[in-house]
Amino acid sequence: MKVDVLLGLQWGDEGKGKVVDVLTPRYDVVARFQGGPNAGHTLEFEGQKYVLRSIPSGIFQGDKVNIVGNGVVLDPALFKAEAEALEASGHPLEDRLHISKKAHLILPTHRILDAAYEAAKGDAKVGTTGKGIGPTYTDKVSRNGIRVGDILENFDQKYQVAKARHEQILKSLNYEYDLTELEKEWLAGIEYLKKFTLVDSEHELNNLLKDGKKILCEGAQGTMLDIDFGSYPFVTSSNTVCAGACTGLGVAPNKIGDVYGIFKAYCTRVGAGPFPTELFDEIGDKICKLGFEYGSVTGRKRRCGWIDLVALKYSITINGVTKLIMMKSDVLDTFSTIKACIAYKKDGEEIDYFPYDINENIEPVYVELPGWETDMTKMQSEDEFPEEFNAYLSFLEDELGVMIKIVSVGPDRAQTIERYVEE
Ligand code: GDP
Ligand code: IMO
Ligand code: MG
Repeated sequence: MKVDVLLGLQWGDEGKGKVVDVLTPRYDVVARFQGGPNAGHTLEFEGQKYVLRSIPSGIFQGDKVNIVGNGVVLDPALFKAEAEALEASGHPLEDRLHISKKAHLILPTHRILDAAYEAAKGDAKVGTTGKGIGPTYTDKVSRNGIRVGDILENFDQKYQVAKARHEQILKSLNYEYDLTELEKEWLAGIEYLKKFTLVDSEHELNNLLKDGKKILCEGAQGTMLDIDFGSYPFVTSSNTVCAGACTGLGVAPNKIGDVYGIFKAYCTRVGAGPFPTELFDEIGDKICKLGFEYGSVTGRKRRCGWIDLVALKYSITINGVTKLIMMKSDVLDTFSTIKACIAYKKDGEEIDYFPYDINENIEPVYVELPGWETDMTKMQSEDEFPEEFNAYLSFLEDELGVMIKIVSVGPDRAQTIERYVEE
């Protein structure tokens, strides 16, 4: 048995939560492998909308086991709020939600450090979600972190040491803060965490695989936000790419099966950093309005632009994508023409590969395609697809070299169309 991986190919918010929920009935287990509450994964079904941050998106489908892997960073206070809200809405979690003892804890002072570092950067700030992601992964890599397993023994001593170190840094930055409320909620979160099954995800997942169980690994953020391959330094602090599933769960590379790569029919980005196909005109505003492009964690307006096939091809290669999933095509339902970026002009020269630096002097080269100008939101099968939409799919598949197996035509679980294309 192999594990399948589902991840974002753009700058996050591609619709991963929705599709994980749709695919979960085909799996026994769903596991998150990186990121933390910087993620906001939205699901809609039966008239209800849910936003998940740390809990995997397989939690709404029956009694499936959901695992938070070692590669995730967990904020106990935010986790408690998220878990209690789910339980209150009739979705009990205990027994179904397992958490890796090796996942690192986001401390209240990590959140304050995140804000302090951003403030110190001034105009060069990353525009983080403010959830303490960077400082927590920094402590992990510099071997100063506290892990979920640490809450079981000598916890207070470990916490005080880490807190004192952070407070010293904050003092050197002259950053003013008040820890009282944050710390109170956080300590309550630590107690709450003890109710859950704490595991070694590498043992659990490999045993499940041996027993023939089917596992789906859920990515957070997107490939263009990867710490190594994204638009550095305007990235997150984890490996969002497929290899992150190996290190973030303890799954060997030869155990990876299908890699589902998700992209929007256009492109968005939230936070600072380069975005070659960004639109600053009324078309960008229209995409933002129709796609309701506002961050599910911070509420920030997402920057919008045309699809970028140069960046997508790069993402597909790095992740070894075997199946593509196209989201939010309905947002383009009323457009008479659609553009797709097939190359960049960098310093006057046309290139078709993703260069080292996309920060400056990048101009997109577009092709124009006819829009389908048809409301697709109620369609149930690919037989109903308009001719121009099929032409758009064929164009993308030719350019990207991978089949588009699923098309999403609205936010609801039911607005998902599987394509029976030959591979
Ligand atoms: P994630 O972080 O990748 O899980 O994506 P988000 O939940 O942050 O953002 C995706 C947004 O698009 C959410 O508000 C979804 O409800 C919504 N969404 C997902 N698929 C579709 C779709 O096909 N059409 C439309 N219009 N909205 C969608
Ligand atoms: P999901 O899983 C979109 C962005 C932030 C910022 C940068 C670094 O919902 O797709 P961080 O707080 O991680 O240090 O911020 O990364 N970012 C996301 N953008 N979707 C996300 O997650 C994101 N998680 C982080 O806006 O630019
Ligand atoms: Mg999101």
